[in-house]
Amino acid sequence: MSKTFTIKNPLDMHLHLRDNDMLNLVAPLTSKTFSGAIIMPNLVPPVTTKEAVVAYKQRILQACKGDSFEPYMTLFFQNYTKEFLTDVKEDILAIKLYPAGITTNSETGVSSMDVETLRPTLEAMSELGIPLCIHGETNGFVMDREAEFMPIYASIASAFPNLKIIMEHITTKAAVDMLDIYPNLYATITLHHLLITLDDVAGGMLKPHLFCKPIAKRDEDRAALLNVALGAHPKVCFGSDSAPHPKHKKESCGCAAGVFTAPIALQVLTELFEKHNCLDNLQKFISDNAVRIYGINPPQKTITLEKVDFKVPQNYQNETEIVVPMYADEVIKWSLVN
Ligand code: DOR
Ligand code: ZN
Repeated sequence: MSKTFTIKNPLDMHLHLRDNDMLNLVAPLTSKTFSGAIIMPNLVPPVTTKEAVVAYKQRILQACKGDSFEPYMTLFFQNYTKEFLTDVKEDILAIKLYPAGITTNSETGVSSMDVETLRPTLEAMSELGIPLCIHGETNGFVMDREAEFMPIYASIASAFPNLKIIMEHITTKAAVDMLDIYPNLYATITLHHLLITLDDVAGGMLKPHLFCKPIAKRDEDRAALLNVALGAHPKVCFGSDSAPHPKHKKESCGCAAGVFTAPIALQVLTELFEKHNCLDNLQKFISDNAVRIYGINPPQKTITLEKVDFKVPQNYQNETEIVVPMYADEVIKWSLVN
């Protein structure tokens, strides 16, 4: 009999589901196996009102076709009043801040990261207990953008000690080191940043399906991420940043940023943690830490995997959309048991 492994209530704390036909294509690929996910608000236009949050959540639940799955909704950061935030608090789990223009659909993000400019909204969030998720990159040289953002994390974390701040999709040792300095800083880590470096993206033939923001960094950075993920550091949790783009927008000059990992995440994480003899820590990395950090109570779901080869499909498609997953057409050593 093949070896099996069981995960309870897997959570993806950073997920892009998009809208319309793409939403209908990708949502079930997460809702089938995950208990819940934090849903990113970078639609066009971005999600900035209570009505938009509620309506988007309904569309997501409809796309999940009855799966027991909780979409944890977010607002796109802008200056919000305390009154508005009080009213919307029950409908969201966090607010996501994008520096303006830093990545896909972030043009209307924040143009100044100055603490005083952000203070009224952050103060209200802190008082109401709404966590702040940040895409932490400057617009400097692409390999240095995340490291250059560390002083900004430091200034916000010390100005608002009661505000939970999640450094999203960290890619550097510099960000890992911040976790032990500021008690209110946490992090999500993607699957792809545990597996690849810039060499995999651009060291040989260019791999558009591995191009994302933040760009994958150096091997020492990946090693630092692996160290805290495999060790299930209590301040990190899994957030795939699975970011589907239509195939023609990836395989094009002017390639959109984003790696689509939703349908392979559980299988590849199991393979990775097993390879490093850390399978015992995967439950914490993929669920327990997030439950504690966010204080949530996700739907109960038990997922079993078996050590049987899984050939990743070349693509996933419906009538109008086609999207290529990471490791398309390659073989993973673990499969989901249906
Ligand atoms: O690679 C990325 N894709 N990084 C992001 O921050 C956004 C995402 C997207 O929405 O496509
Ligand atoms: Zn993202």
